[in-house]
Amino acid sequence: MTTTRESAETHTTSGAARLLPGAPVADAIFAEVAAAVARLRDRGITPSLATILVGDDDASAGYIGIKQRQAAALGFASPHVHLPATVTQADLHRAIARFNTDPAVHGLLVQYPVPGHLDYDAALQTIDPDKDVDGMHPLNMGRLAVGLPGPLPCTPAGIEALLAHHEIPVAGREVVILGRGATLGRPLAMLLAQKRPTANAAVTVVHTGVPDWARYTRRADILVAAAGVPGIVQPEHVKPGAVVIGAGVRYAGRRLLPDVDEACAEVAGAITPRVGGVGPTTVAMLFRNAVRATERATR
Ligand SMILES: NC(=O)c1ccc[n+]([C@@H]2O[C@H](COP(=O)([O-])OP(=O)(O)OC[C@H]3O[C@@H](n4cnc5c(N)ncnc54)[C@H](OP(=O)(O)O)[C@@H]3O)[C@@H](O)[C@H]2O)c1
Repeated sequence: MTTTRESAETHTTSGAARLLPGAPVADAIFAEVAAAVARLRDRGITPSLATILVGDDDASAGYIGIKQRQAAALGFASPHVHLPATVTQADLHRAIARFNTDPAVHGLLVQYPVPGHLDYDAALQTIDPDKDVDGMHPLNMGRLAVGLPGPLPCTPAGIEALLAHHEIPVAGREVVILGRGATLGRPLAMLLAQKRPTANAAVTVVHTGVPDWARYTRRADILVAAAGVPGIVQPEHVKPGAVVIGAGVRYAGRRLLPDVDEACAEVAGAITPRVGGVGPTTVAMLFRNAVRATERATR
């Protein structure tokens, strides 16, 4: 029903889609996190989100900086370890183990990517699943699959929150996700198919094994681009009036190249902006995972 209303609103005025920014969604989540932090502090508990950075990649250091500033703003402690690019896998696992066993640390992340000689997935598997604020540990993927509580993968959870915040109905509607990657498409499909008012959708996942994937995207009420292929989603792949969520991106240096071509805004009923759509909700979900991990650890 909202799609019809949205199409009517947009196509009778400018012919362009309603924008779905992530910032107000993130602000609402941060407000919820700040209230939970205040309750913890009343009990004498300071939530703590630890970070590990390996190497000297500028972009990764920048992301860590954003997370540390957000941690400070929300009243989190944010212990940090910066390991040299030459570190061994065993050194990285030892740094993770120290945070795993520190009861004052409630959440932990290793900034992705790590230098090529290191195995990020192997490192991820050594993180205490209850401290895994990225929600990417295999145990947490399993919890998601069977519907047990635990940290949720941040970008998929952020997309569900973004749709809910902007009052896009999801339940009973056809969601098509382009991409089945482990960080995005696959967990998002599990999340949006769950029995919950903000999910409960008919979800289809398409990928390189489905050469005629456009046949599916063209019938989607909600289309999520999660391929990491710049410009892969063109206006002809979008049903008129549909909701389009651009989550897949690639970087050429600092330049962001989204999956969704800007011209899709002329066909969609609602669409995430080129910059400031899914990204802010991902960061907010990291802190929601961290504060919930603190609550669970200190019950
Ligand atoms: N905005 C954010 O905060 C955020 C967070 C996390 C990830 N991301 C972005 O989301 C994207 C996906 O991440 P990921 O880790 O899930 O990536 P991934 O593991 O590389 O998965 C990409 C998926 O897209 C599919 N695909 C690629 N090219 C295709 C094509 N030409 N036709 C049809 N399907 C195609 C692949 O199909 P196959 O499985 O058949 O190979 C695969 O399932 C990346 O761009 C990443 O940067 C964004």
